[in-house]
Amino acid sequence: MSVNCSRPVERYLMASLWSPGIFLVLVLALPLKTLPLVTLAETNVYIVYMGDKLHDEPELVQESHHELLADIVGSKDAAKESILYSYKHGFSGFAAVLTKSQEKLIADFPGVAGVVRNRIISSHTTRSWDFLQVKPQLAGRISKGHSGAGSIIGVMDTGIWPESKSFRDEGMAEVPSRWRGICQEGEGFNRSHCNRKIIGARWYVKGYEAEFGKLNTSDGDEFLSPRDAGGHGTHTSSTATGGPVESASFMGLAQGLARGGAPISLAGRLQSLLGYRWLR
Ligand SMILES: *[C@@H]1O[C@H](CO)[C@@H](O)[C@H](O)[C@H]1NC(C)=O
Ligand SMILES: *[C@@H]1O[C@H](CO)[C@@H](O)[C@H](O)[C@H]1NC(C)=O
Repeated sequence: MSVNCSRPVERYLMASLWSPGIFLVLVLALPLKTLPLVTLAETNVYIVYMGDKLHDEPELVQESHHELLADIVGSKDAAKESILYSYKHGFSGFAAVLTKSQEKLIADFPGVAGVVRNRIISSHTTRSWDFLQVKPQLAGRISKGHSGAGSIIGVMDTGIWPESKSFRDEGMAEVPSRWRGICQEGEGFNRSHCNRKIIGARWYVKGYEAEFGKLNTSDGDEFLSPRDAGGHGTHTSSTATGGPVESASFMGLAQGLARGGAPISLAGRLQSLLGYRWLR
């Protein structure tokens, strides 16, 4: 019955559209009209900062992020898909893939302190302490203070080259039991690369890949792991925590004594890495 009914309509359509001009216009107009609505709403990664966390339980903090975002993107499932990272320990916030208009909406939400767009930071610079005009006397003072014994330092940078002599752990005590970080594995980096000096390492690539697509590491410019391809992170972590290494240089440049500020320099590109080192 429905077939019979539709036939005259079909014939009518065919007749009225059977002009090559109109036909072409329709074929071109359909994708042009529908695409922008469906797929071309441009998205970017934004970091939503919410200040102090309102719960002590990390899971509750993360749950509050999903609830807030669900109001913007329509559902909890969509919220979970759009969130890349939840910040739920030191403060409350999250990184999410949003359109410009969603970003505007969320910025006005109660409890949201600020929203910043994700961006790529390029690294500069063996002599950070000289640049900062920190004198050896200070290093002496640090030594008197047992050179940071018992301290745990977190460094956010391009990663770490764990074979560097700066990170040898001879003579170091066991990892403190209060430490709850992990040694995250990846390309060229496994758990055996952490030691009593590098007590943890993590890598973060979701923000980059959400905006620019899969990171192709075949050229060796990056590792999908805490391993540092560019050298900046190794430089800054050893500046912060490394023991002194004579004749250190970056491929023959900037040769000199590399020393750690607490008996120690760093930077980053596509992947921001969080490495933790424990000082002597
Ligand atoms: C970790 O990596 C090292 C050096 O690359 C290798 O010798 C070792 O077998 C690896 N360990 C595991 C458990 O894969
Ligand atoms: C990665 O880049 C190399 C060249 O640098 C290319 O040959 C290879 O096909 C790329 N892989 C992917 C998955 O795109």
